[in-house]
Amino acid sequence: MYVCNCNGIRERDVRAAIDQGASRPADVFRHADCKPQCAKCVCDIRCMIEDQQVALRYAAE
Ligand code: FES
Repeated sequence: MYVCNCNGIRERDVRAAIDQGASRPADVFRHADCKPQCAKCVCDIRCMIEDQQVALRYAAE
């Protein structure tokens, strides 16, 4: 599923970026070697990052 239609960034691309340390949407765009255009996806990317951080926090407990 595409998260960012402007740049063709898929959900798995965002997860890969997060796995490699992306902690902000800008990091995800950098990982995909592109820049935000309409920025409609930024909230979704931020949510994915926050969900992953929460999951890691629970896993660490
Ligand atoms: S949908 Fe991601 S920049 Fe437009």
